[in-house]
Amino acid sequence: MSNDSSAARQRTAYTIPGISQSDADDLVALLQDRLNALNDLALTLKHIHWNVVGTHFIAVHTMLDPQVDAVRLMVDDTAERIATLGGSPIGTPGALVANRSWDDYSLGRATALEHLAALDLVYGGVIESHRKAIAAAEEPDPVSQDMLIGQAKLLEQYQWFVRAHLESADGRLTTAGAHTEQQAADTAPADAVTAATDSTSGQASA
Ligand SMILES: [Fe+2]
Repeated sequence: MSNDSSAARQRTAYTIPGISQSDADDLVALLQDRLNALNDLALTLKHIHWNVVGTHFIAVHTMLDPQVDAVRLMVDDTAERIATLGGSPIGTPGALVANRSWDDYSLGRATALEHLAALDLVYGGVIESHRKAIAAAEEPDPVSQDMLIGQAKLLEQYQWFVRAHLESADGRLTTAGAHTEQQAADTAPADAVTAATDSTSGQASA
């Protein structure tokens, strides 16, 4: 098992009985990357909660807070698992930004469907990496793996909540084929409020 995603690899001085020191060091690096992803996700969900506008504002605004609460619990569990393994969980924002392999969420104020389309990609990235971590953790530490599996189950359910807004009656996603958050957001249909505003400003300038 190996993980190259953490720039500052830690050497643990002790770990859980039955886990080798080398495996513990690998697990700490693996879980630190997941800790960074979950901390980033919790902040991004709040950012969307604050910046969503338009017709479906309250539905999306209120849908996201329970997700934030659940992801913050995942953050705490992951950090404390790192400590239990003998590592030092790193929770500072500078270290997160320096060691992450993804960019900041790219949308500011935007409609509910634009944010949900972009959030579908965000959840997709976190879930894909979580599933790789689940596979990597299996042999050295099924207890850490069990924690990651529980988190993935919730993250995948939250992605479904998001995707249900983006799904047609025949089961297709509007975001299919989008590779960036902005590409995904661009697939969103015009919001009724936005369309009305555009129409008003169009009349004013005519
Ligand atoms: Fe709030």
